[in-house]
Parts: sequence; structure tokens; C-alpha cells
Amino acid sequence: MRLTRREFARSALAASVAAALPAGLFSACSVSSNAAHTAGVRPLASPRNQFDNSSEIKFPKNFFWGTATAAYQIEGAWNEDGKGESIWDRFAHTPGKINNGDTGDVACDSYHRWRDDIRLMRAMNLNSHRFSISWPRVQPSGSGPANSKGIDYYSRLVDALLEARIRPMITLYHWDLPQALEDAGGWPNRDTAPRFADYVELVAQALGDRVSDWMLFNEPCAFVDLGHLEGTHAPGHKSLVDFLRASHTVNLAQGSSFRALKATRPSARVGTALSMIACEPATTSEEDKLAAERAHAMTNLWFLEPALNGRYPEALAFLPETVMRIESGDLDKMRAPLDFIGINLYYRTIVSAPSTLERLSHTQEWLFPVKMARGEQGPKTDFGWEIWPQALYDVVARITRDFNRPVIEITESGCSYSDGPDARGVIRDTRRIDYHRQYLQALARAIADGADVRGYHAWSLMDNFEWAEGFSQRFGLAYVDFKTQQRTIKESGRWYANVAASNALPPHPATPD
Ligand code: FCB
Repeated sequence: MRLTRREFARSALAASVAAALPAGLFSACSVSSNAAHTAGVRPLASPRNQFDNSSEIKFPKNFFWGTATAAYQIEGAWNEDGKGESIWDRFAHTPGKINNGDTGDVACDSYHRWRDDIRLMRAMNLNSHRFSISWPRVQPSGSGPANSKGIDYYSRLVDALLEARIRPMITLYHWDLPQALEDAGGWPNRDTAPRFADYVELVAQALGDRVSDWMLFNEPCAFVDLGHLEGTHAPGHKSLVDFLRASHTVNLAQGSSFRALKATRPSARVGTALSMIACEPATTSEEDKLAAERAHAMTNLWFLEPALNGRYPEALAFLPETVMRIESGDLDKMRAPLDFIGINLYYRTIVSAPSTLERLSHTQEWLFPVKMARGEQGPKTDFGWEIWPQALYDVVARITRDFNRPVIEITESGCSYSDGPDARGVIRDTRRIDYHRQYLQALARAIADGADVRGYHAWSLMDNFEWAEGFSQRFGLAYVDFKTQQRTIKESGRWYANVAASNALPPHPATPD
């Protein structure tokens, strides 16, 4: 179950960091902020988890209503037209890595059926679509010249989106590193940072005349952690050192690719899409509140604070600079004054401080003293993720407050339900409608309270390849029959189409807590 992806991942990090590294490897934390200890942080979590919309809720003028997808999850054509192998191709082709032996070899076949996908977006009245570029499709071995057929594919897609009056919003890295770069050391190798900046420049040159909105990374916290520490995602490493080094390379890559993109396209709007979780203290004790702040720093700020403030948050009590190979001048290199912050948010976590006994059992307890558990109060999706709309409110409000009211885009939110067609072919996924309605209510409240949110992208346009879960989790607003590749808009997609067309949530009575 992918709940492990974020929540247990963090406790795994805590335990392994604490257990694995001798104190001698660490130098005192001179490059981290003390954001985790910010005095007087108002607890944002309140018991309220319902947002009344008994009357219509209007969204700001020109609000973007979109969907999000990722190359490996939808494109297929894994070895066509000169595409290079990616770490996800290699991982999925390794027996035992993916549920049911599924692969993204064909996925939704969007490499051939992208016109159908744009038809779906049109039918849903979308004015924005977030998709990712497959690095090995446009630069097969991660360096050197572009693969023109790969560029052509994205170029046609961009043109067709613009023609449909849909804003193309490009994610430059949604987890599919060229395998050749992995063979050269991957993200733990800091040479991958300049490779990434070169690739970003290449794409900006090819598409930047028509595309204005870019995200450098998708969820660095997730791919660095799951791919390098837990080993449940590509490239499948289980190494704390790799985790720490990959973190630093990605932070460096964020800075260098930001500069490369701006140098190529000065008017581009450049952000990054971060996985965020509302970190609620389990109790009102000072220890738990501090633990929740540390969890917030690790999960939400580890790739944001370096970009915006040129420093690491104090998520680990001491930053292992030597292990991470932080060199002098790196802090400035990590800076990327993002034009917007992309937030991917699905749920919250409940954080407590480890007991004295638990701390004593870890020799380096000062490194990451937090315990994270999933929330249990709200209903669960078929993936087991708790539905907790307040989490979206809390995170958006917190980021707004702590980063001086930045421009925010909700770059992902959504839910997995297995509802399929009934006898008449209709997919009545009312639970998905409830999910998006409640999260949008929470978002509308955050906007009313002052957040500058420009768009919402439902994950996902259509059912697709859900990483280690294969095809077993369906997140789409459109249903995909993976045997025939037929796409059918679900009831949630129809509902979303109305919301997008009216730029408003229709009235709906709140149900009591
Ligand atoms: C996010 C990923 C996205 C998809 C959704 C369900 O963490 O960015 O690719 O897997 O979760």
C-alpha cells in the first residue's frame, strides 16, 4: 500500500538516520535555518474539517482549472522513435518490483492517443493541463543532442493544447531519469545537476516560445526518498547516504536549472511541484509540537527552503554536510527564486515525539526525532489515504504566511477509487466528486483568507500507471479500459467540467462533522 510512500517513509528515515550514521560523519549545522523552531508559530490545525458551501463559491477571475499527468504514467511507447531507457523502464522490467508485474510500456498509450486526451480536456472545459516531459525521450542518454522525434511529440502536444485554449504547464522531471545517467551514479552523483540544467535548456529552447509555465521537479521529496532510501521506487536503492546525496544534488539542480531556464526564456514562469503534507501534532505537548515542526521541515521545506532562502531547514538536528558533500558556495547555487510554488497535497500526518525510551534506543536521536502516523478520523480512499480537506487549507495558509504570500498553484490533488462502468456504461464515482468538492471548499477558504492561489489540477486526467501499484489504483476523472484503451469520462469528470465552466463550486450543504 502506498501509504508507506510518505508517512512511514518519514519514520523509516528517522530510524535509519538515527541508527546508521556515526556522529563523526556530521559537522555542526551551519547551513540550516532554524525554521523548525520558529517561535510563536500559530497552530493552524483546528478541529474543523467541514467547509460550508450552502451557497455557490466563486473562484478568482482567470482561475486555472486543470488536470495533471506524468510521462511515464501515461505515454507508453517506451522504446519508440529513439527514446532512451529510463530508470522506470528498468525498474518496471525487473521482476517483483511492480504490483502484478505491470509496466508502463504501453500505459495509456498517450504517445499515440494524445488527441483523444485533448478531447477529454476539452469536454471537461479545462483551461490548464500539467504534463511532464520524458527526459530520455528528448535526450536519450541524458546528455548530448536532442532526439528530434521526441521533441516533435511534445511540440505537437503543446500546439494542440494552445489551439484548444488550454495552458500547457510543463513538469521537467517527473521521476524518469535516463538510465545512462543512473549508470553514471544517478542523483547521488552531483554531476547529474549540470546534466539536468543542460536538458532543461534544451527543452526551453525547443518549446519555450510557446510555453510560459514550468515546473522543474515533481515531488523531489518522494523520488529522493522512495527511490534512494526505501527502494520501493526506481532506481530502487536502499541507502541513507544515497538519500542524503541525492537530496543535495536535486537542490543544486533546482538552482542551476532555474538559472538555465531563465537565461533561455527570461519571461518564463518557473516553479516546482512539491509534495506537501499537513503535519499535525498528536497532542498539545511542547514535544509533539516541536516534532510536528520538524516533520513539516523535512516533508514540506527540504526542497523549498534551499530554493527560496539558500539554506536547509533544521529538519535534522545536525546537517550531515560531509556525507551530503556540501561544498563551499553550494548554498548560493541552490537558490532558485521560484515564481510560484506548486503544491501536491493529498492528506495529513499526525506527529509525535518519540518517548525517552525510543530516543535512547537510537544513539543519534538528535537527528530526526519524530514519529509520524496516518490520520484515522476521516474516510479512506481505496488506496487507504485519509480524506482530510483541512490539510489543504492548513498547508496553503502556512506556506502563504511563512513565505510572504507567494503565488501558489495546486499542482495535484485527487483520490483513488476503483469504480468502473455500470450496465449502461456510466461510471458513478460520487466519492470522487465529494473529495474534490471538499478539497476545493478548503482551498476557497484559504483564498478568502488571503492565499494567492492561481489554479487547481486534479490528479489525474485519466486512470493510469500508478508507479509501484501498477494499474491497481484509479485516480482518473476519465476511466481507461486498459485492454482497449477506450477512455470514458466519469461522473466526476462531468461534475468538474461544470465547476470549470462556471468557475465556481455549486451550492452543497455541508454534512456535520
Ligand atoms: C503523486 C505523484 C503522482 C501520482 C499521485 C497519485 O505523489 O506525483 O505521479 O502518483 O501521487
